[in-house]
Amino acid sequence: MCGIVGYIGNKQAYPILINGLKRLEYRGYDSAGISLLDNDVRIYKRKGKVSDLENFVSDKDISGKIGIGHTRWATHGEPNDINSHPHSSMNGSFVIIHNGIIENYSRLKRKLQDRGYTFKTDTDTEVLANLIEYIYIKGKVSAEIAVRLALSKVIGAYGLAIICKDEPDKLIAARKGSPLVIGVGDGEYYIASDATPIVEYTKSVIYLNDDDVAILGQDGLTLKTIKNDQLTPKIQHIDLDIGEIEKNGFDHFMLKEIFEQPRSILDTFRGRISVDKNEIHLGGLHEVFPKLVTAKRIIIIGCGTSWHAGLVGEYLFEDLARIPVEVEYASEFRYRNPIINEDDIVIAISQSGETADTLAAIRLAKKANATVIGICNVVGSSIPRETEAGVYTHAGTEIGVASTKAFTAQVTVLTMMAIMLGYHKKQITAEDYKSLINELNDIPAKIEKILTYNSKYLEVSKLYKDATNFIYLGRGYLFPVALEGALKLKEISYIHAEGYPAAEMKHGPIALIDEKMPVVVLATKDKSYEKVVSNIQEVKARKGIVIAIVNEGDETISKIADHVLEIPKSSEELAALLTVVPLQLLSYHIAVLRECNVDQPRNLAKSVTVE
Ligand code: G6P
Repeated sequence: MCGIVGYIGNKQAYPILINGLKRLEYRGYDSAGISLLDNDVRIYKRKGKVSDLENFVSDKDISGKIGIGHTRWATHGEPNDINSHPHSSMNGSFVIIHNGIIENYSRLKRKLQDRGYTFKTDTDTEVLANLIEYIYIKGKVSAEIAVRLALSKVIGAYGLAIICKDEPDKLIAARKGSPLVIGVGDGEYYIASDATPIVEYTKSVIYLNDDDVAILGQDGLTLKTIKNDQLTPKIQHIDLDIGEIEKNGFDHFMLKEIFEQPRSILDTFRGRISVDKNEIHLGGLHEVFPKLVTAKRIIIIGCGTSWHAGLVGEYLFEDLARIPVEVEYASEFRYRNPIINEDDIVIAISQSGETADTLAAIRLAKKANATVIGICNVVGSSIPRETEAGVYTHAGTEIGVASTKAFTAQVTVLTMMAIMLGYHKKQITAEDYKSLINELNDIPAKIEKILTYNSKYLEVSKLYKDATNFIYLGRGYLFPVALEGALKLKEISYIHAEGYPAAEMKHGPIALIDEKMPVVVLATKDKSYEKVVSNIQEVKARKGIVIAIVNEGDETISKIADHVLEIPKSSEELAALLTVVPLQLLSYHIAVLRECNVDQPRNLAKSVTVE
């Protein structure tokens, strides 16, 4: 949700900024802009993609060793040239880029208008630029002090990079709520919303905390709080390979990430499960494990795809460990006065580790003294830093806005946790424990096999790419997969799709079924198989088109469904990890055939750092 990049050092800033914006474009792509500081301050900004900005600046002066850049996901003000970032203050003293929302911006705007300030845009960011400038001019203080004082008056969230025209030897960065990372090079500094634009230049980073302000100059870095308390910067080493953030020959990041799943799942359980020793070991849970074993209740919170992974978690924990589970949308949980007990375990699931609602829900749970565990993908992100224990998914960087490998990695972590807990609580036998570990170990090879059927998914996609609606049905562990399949399709192909528990179809969606309605049914062999076969018959009786995901060799469904897509057999506890893959590929192919922008679907952003 908006990407920020900045540079100060001895190199030309422009190539660093533009490459950085391309790496961050998944965070928002309504518009892009940069500002460069040399003898003067220049701002170039454009509605549209980073490539539109690149074309726009092709004949402009792009020199300067200090600069900031922004790719926007609009919150206040429509996405047009004028509302694009950077924004300059009325008298031109400050240029700023911002990720987040200034909630009290209209009150601040009115106050500034009363003092003679006029505004060119509809954005909350311009209000902040003018507030900083007002304090700077009126108070005759330094840029740093003006920034700190202005931020003490702001309610809301921000990641900021700021240039002051009169102090051209520094960049100021500040964070509250929205992520910001400082890259530390040799006599140079980088600013970015996440480490991806930085990693090709330096592996040494400082993650800013809420209320931190960093003043970056060619001569060094000062870190303080907005209250002016001096802080000691904690430089950390990031282990992110540049290959992870490139397409590596695939047409889209999403396709690359789908195909990475055999490896990413292996990375998720590598060193954590041992088939030989018959063991699961999750180091990040060691301290809280006794609390997990005695937990009376687990509450899982997340948004989007992470919430779907949480639903699979509910089935897993209840089934294998017999612990009651509630799964909540973080946004609902935080605002509905939930009952949270001290002996509750709250598991927050998030790919980015930055989702604003999930973070706020975590803070609420912490306040109620619950034990909060994070399951996150992005190392060093806010959620792992705010939770007392956790498990990284290690899926590697996910760039495609539609989440794929992060989902299977999250489900893998939840599976390991549930198996481990079930065994310790004596809810599953030693034999089941062993066989589930073995099965999990076999999942990457099974997904490898599913990926070899890709051309079949493409064939089916060609037949239904023009459908206007889809229904996805599943039962038990596969109901959340039906939701996830429907979400994938709507996110990237803009076809309306609904996921339903297969049995619920009779209570509404069946009214929608006619000869034009494709119904994707998850029908692998489990205890509900016969019932799902009946659900397929019900769809066929209304002339619906059935695309069934079945186990290899299924002869019953192949006789009644219009299309069967085969996957290898697994126990039902692990079936979500396999059945989701054909659904990811179906939506991918349909979106490509409809000429949609798969990696950057309209209106979406990968990291949602606003409410
Ligand atoms: C956005 C993304 C989704 C993601 C959701 C939650 O909507 O587009 O792919 O599932 O946020 O994000 P998180 O990073 O918390 O998993």
